[in-house]
Amino acid sequence: MKILVTGASGTVGKYAANELLKMNASIVVAGTDTQKLLKIYGKDVERVKLDFTKEETFDAALQEVDRVFLMRPPHLGKAEDLYPFIQIMKEHGIKLVSFLSLMGVEKNPIPPHHKIEKYISELGLPFAHIRPGFFMQNLSGIHAEEIKENNKILVPAGKSKTSFIDAADIGLAIATVLKDPERYKNTAHTLTGPQSLDYFEVAELLSQVTKKHISYADPGFLSYRSHYINNRGLDKKYVNVTMALYLMTRLGTAEKVTDEFEKLTGKKPTSFREFAERNRGSFM
Ligand SMILES: NC(=O)c1ccc[n+]([C@@H]2O[C@H](COP(=O)([O-])OP(=O)(O)OC[C@H]3O[C@@H](n4cnc5c(N)ncnc54)[C@H](OP(=O)(O)O)[C@@H]3O)[C@@H](O)[C@H]2O)c1
Repeated sequence: MKILVTGASGTVGKYAANELLKMNASIVVAGTDTQKLLKIYGKDVERVKLDFTKEETFDAALQEVDRVFLMRPPHLGKAEDLYPFIQIMKEHGIKLVSFLSLMGVEKNPIPPHHKIEKYISELGLPFAHIRPGFFMQNLSGIHAEEIKENNKILVPAGKSKTSFIDAADIGLAIATVLKDPERYKNTAHTLTGPQSLDYFEVAELLSQVTKKHISYADPGFLSYRSHYINNRGLDKKYVNVTMALYLMTRLGTAEKVTDEFEKLTGKKPTSFREFAERNRGSFM
């Protein structure tokens, strides 16, 4: 039997799939664009088309699959968008689903992840929820353009702190639980990096690593929204979900540091400085 990796062309999916391959697990990588998957993984890794909005793609994706890494594509803003696929997983007798959730959602019903977690457990699907803090890759990915071009970090998090985690560490944690479904059945793991930083401290670390002067713009919600929708052309639903997440962040929900990554994997989580040094080119 195989492990289905959804969102396999995405930030976390790629790391999860590669960690599973290193562990010699049988996997099938999935996404809406199989050509993209072929380019990333080559022809030796099995790939399948899966679109959460197209039920006709579900059965083929779950053939001979008994475990699933499930992620919610950021533009699917409603939890209900994932319900049809979750129901089909139940019908296929999946023995562990590891859902990429979000730190703190067990107590916060606003992000869609809350309802998705609840739906999975209500259906009686065995789960190992992964609840990470914000990804370090947000800085080298979505926010890199403003850093590269204007030496500014444009995130509406105010003065709050965030216990950033490297998505590579999340991938390792996901592979760990999926490789041992009996042990991790019906568990949840809040994963963070080793320290909590505000964005002024992030700017200072990035300045030291790049030897440029990078500052935190500390934008308000309206200027953030207007920039990412009007200047960058990002999907409105995606930007709205991120605004809700940064509102929570301002209330302190992203600050907690846990030792669950080390407990799960036996490794120390990557620090922000290590990440910045490894990804220096993304900020230059
Ligand atoms: N960024 C953070 O700090 C953070 C923190 C905690 C939790 N999260 C959660 O992590 C998730 C995002 O993970 P990520 O950053 O790894 O994703 P990502 O890099 O944005 O990748 C999105 C993936 O979704 C796939 N996809 C898009 N539309 C699809 C559809 N209709 N059906 C099936 N697959 C589809 C894409 O593949 P194709 O291109 O092939 O379609 C792609 O592989 C979100 O739920 C987010 O809330 C993020």
